[in-house]
Amino acid sequence: MAVLGIDIGGSGIKGRLVDTMTGRLLSDRMKIATPQPSTPAAVADVVAEIVEHFEHRGPVGCTFPAVVKAGRTLSAANVDESWIGTDATALFSARTGLAVTVLNDADAAGIAEVAHGAGRGRSGVVVLLTFGTGIGSAMFLDGNLIPNTEFGHLSFRGHESVEDWAAARVKKEEGLSWREWTERVNAFLGHLDNILSLDLFIVGGGVSRKMDKWGHWLDSSVDVVAARLANDAGIVGAAMAAADSC
Ligand code: BGC
Repeated sequence: MAVLGIDIGGSGIKGRLVDTMTGRLLSDRMKIATPQPSTPAAVADVVAEIVEHFEHRGPVGCTFPAVVKAGRTLSAANVDESWIGTDATALFSARTGLAVTVLNDADAAGIAEVAHGAGRGRSGVVVLLTFGTGIGSAMFLDGNLIPNTEFGHLSFRGHESVEDWAAARVKKEEGLSWREWTERVNAFLGHLDNILSLDLFIVGGGVSRKMDKWGHWLDSSVDVVAARLANDAGIVGAAMAAADSC
């Protein structure tokens, strides 16, 4: 089934058509800068613009960088605060006239990686972490998602949210070397393994394409692999979730 996947982030909103059976991408990527302020109405306009661009009339899956329960966005770490409590599914469906499914961005990336990427065929407890502006997380038990884990908001080493200490953004902000930043990642991975006894970590986000720069500093007793679908994992997972709810 051809489904439109849309990945909503703090800086960009991008969409592509996806064959949800194979995870194959069926179109080029359309990307629009996230409006500032990123209010629900402004973001809904961009979602509608992407739908129009593809002249799409089928189901749509949208990622969102927040806790999403039953289509409602319940947090807003890196987007406008007015998202808290918004019924995103109802908003986007009304604006586009299409059936829209909304889910957390890291959960969407995890769904795609577990089905078609680095987590394919892996059983047990698998955690995908995306390192970007924040830290997103998705946890799976034998391929089944446990949604909205938000491990990036665990308090750690004196920080209210570990993402303010170990996200890729912090590497830049604090001018950390790859080694210094990876040591923070190691501490965080070790902490997660201590409390969850994991079987596999999948690392996503832009830094997963630069593992040659920092992969050798990783020190984890659990296997760590790079995400394979890179930039498009969220789009593919969102489309898969939309196809699932049809
Ligand atoms: C948000 C998560 C999101 C992650 C990555 C965090 O700040 O709370 O919901 O998955 O950023 O975008």
